[in-house]
Amino acid sequence: EQINKGKYEHYMQKEIHEQPESLTTTMRGRLIRGGSSKRKSVLLGGLKDHLKTIRRSRRIVFIGCGTSYNAALAARPLLEELSGIPVMMEIASDLLDRQAPIYRDDTIIFVSQSGETADTLNALEYALENGALCVGITNTVGSAIARNTHCGVHINAGSEIGVASTKAYTSQIVVMAMVSLAIGADTISSKPRREAIIESLLNLPEMKDLAQSLISEQSLLMFGRGYNYATALEGALKVKEVALMHSEGILAGEMKHGPLALVDENLPIVVIATRDQSFSKQQSVIQQLKARKGRLIVMCTEGDAAAVCGGSGRVIEVPLVVDCLQPVVNIVPLQLLSYHLTVLRGYNVDQPRNLAKSVTTE
Ligand code: AGP
Repeated sequence: EQINKGKYEHYMQKEIHEQPESLTTTMRGRLIRGGSSKRKSVLLGGLKDHLKTIRRSRRIVFIGCGTSYNAALAARPLLEELSGIPVMMEIASDLLDRQAPIYRDDTIIFVSQSGETADTLNALEYALENGALCVGITNTVGSAIARNTHCGVHINAGSEIGVASTKAYTSQIVVMAMVSLAIGADTISSKPRREAIIESLLNLPEMKDLAQSLISEQSLLMFGRGYNYATALEGALKVKEVALMHSEGILAGEMKHGPLALVDENLPIVVIATRDQSFSKQQSVIQQLKARKGRLIVMCTEGDAAAVCGGSGRVIEVPLVVDCLQPVVNIVPLQLLSYHLTVLRGYNVDQPRNLAKSVTTE
């Protein structure tokens, strides 16, 4: 079936703006609120028979490539927090190159929009041979990863046509947040936290205005930490792959271990400094970058601009949501930034040179 672009010029632009709806579809029927007890809970049919086994795992390992890997990285802190199980990150090709150990009591979560990525599929075969419980998170019903894993969750983001993954990324994070809530559902002490997250999930699609209000910014380096380290990596990946501009996502805690040498008055730097546990550390990063005359674009929480940047530099304000879901909101301006940069630079938005939507060979 031919999916058209409607009022949009490009699929990528359409898919960025579709995120309020795609997120709603991702969550439909899966978040339960109310009833006489006013209980809030998560229902993931594809996982419910396996939750006990997952809770007994020695480790949970996320495996993916590109944007899917970044989405898993964004979800990792919450999964660690709610499950109490160590969560490891693996890029599929690197795991295979190292033939890294996988154990029978591991749960391996394979994240893939297409469900057909060769490296991820090869890693799945390897994990199955080693006897681990394999969980698939894909956007494609009937894909190889959906078929060959023991259980899983579809992200239901709808077809993604643009080679640059956008709405799949935000839906993947939301699904992994729901998976984290389901795994942690038997822990009484974290109930208030889980309920606050569910409430925040139900309010997420209201970010529509944000997507419409942001236009073209330009950037190269992106500094993030904590929940938003993944946002820096994913923002930089988008700029690289569609705007064909070099961009690098940097863990802000590593700044003094090398990247600080690059800072001068010419190089634009995006610093993600929205409110969460990392906020005061990011404020200090901003001060240090300013002291070296860095050309800053600061992403901060609505109302924080003066406090965070003292009136200098460019500011992108975003609405505050619960910490673990902030990456879903924060990536939108960076997706739009990469989109507008690409159009301004005259490159092909939906089919960047040398890239394919689904990488089915090694
Ligand atoms: C993202 O914009 C890229 N096109 C790419 O990194 C992609 O996410 C990666 O190839 C993994 O694809 P998958 O999610 O279909 O497995």
